[in-house]
Amino acid sequence: MAAVVALLLVVVAGGASAAAPRKPVDVPFQKNYVPTWASDHIRYVDGGREVQLVLDKTTGTGFQTRGSYLFGHFSMHMKLVAGDSAGTVTAFYLSSQNSEHDEIDFEFLGNRTGQPYILQTNVFTGGKGDREQRIYLWFDPTKEYHSYSVLWNLYMIAFFVDDVPIRVFKNSSADLGVRYPFSQPMKLYSSLWNADDWATRGGREKTDWSRAPFVASYRGFHVDGCEASAEARYCATQGARWWDQQEFRDLDAAQYRKLQWVRDGYTIYNYCTDRDRYQAMPPECKRDRDV
Ligand SMILES: *[C@@H]1O[C@H](CO)[C@@H](O)[C@H](O)[C@H]1NC(C)=O
Ligand SMILES: *[C@@H]1O[C@H](CO)[C@@H](O)[C@H](O)[C@H]1NC(C)=O
Repeated sequence: MAAVVALLLVVVAGGASAAAPRKPVDVPFQKNYVPTWASDHIRYVDGGREVQLVLDKTTGTGFQTRGSYLFGHFSMHMKLVAGDSAGTVTAFYLSSQNSEHDEIDFEFLGNRTGQPYILQTNVFTGGKGDREQRIYLWFDPTKEYHSYSVLWNLYMIAFFVDDVPIRVFKNSSADLGVRYPFSQPMKLYSSLWNADDWATRGGREKTDWSRAPFVASYRGFHVDGCEASAEARYCATQGARWWDQQEFRDLDAAQYRKLQWVRDGYTIYNYCTDRDRYQAMPPECKRDRDV
């Protein structure tokens, strides 16, 4: 009986778990991360269980993982700058450290009080980006912590907000000839900085420094990846980890329905439908449309 119940649980959980973490999520900052710059603008609460990034007129700040990773599952619980956040950008991203770099981005563009944040995502492969998608969120990201996560394996890069997939970038290297991040280890980074030259309404809304300091809060710091040296070309356990297995190689039907819900109700920009910018659609957009 217990075995049957356990089996059922596995089946049920398996169906909607492409982002379900397999390791404890709520770990302290120090376990996986270190400051990158302006470490005096990082505040530690509760022994590093919570961290606050502070932006003022002198500087923003940021942090990064200790390790570099080839594939895995990564999440961050974030509570964004509240009130008047226009001009500020908070980012959570993965990036390799070389010239033809790979990058997977979440960027949160602040706004005037009461106006919605924009969440912009992007994927760089071999140094080439220009793949922006922008959405509004279905909640106020400054009120509570929400989880922002990435599942990255040889088959796809999936972006999640809580358990909702908001974007999938499939490995289209074999059939469409689009470079896919697979051989350059990435670190995770997060930062808060002033970008009022472009962030809010295309740069028309400026940062109101009388509202400084601006504070973004973090918890979680979850990292479950194949750790590799920055020069590594492959992961020693490639193929053997949970994120490599069949059920994580694509979203399931329920997840595609959620993604469609985001497409229909919350998407404000998708490079794949920007005819002014791209006379010829980037090849991977063929796949993006199938969503
Ligand atoms: C994914 O990309 C790698 C490298 O570009 C390639 O060797 C591999 O065959 C691809 N896998 C799939 C499932 O397309
Ligand atoms: C800010 O609010 C304005 C007005 O609602 C909106 O057009 C814009 O998309 C919002 N977000 C950003 C980052 O500009």
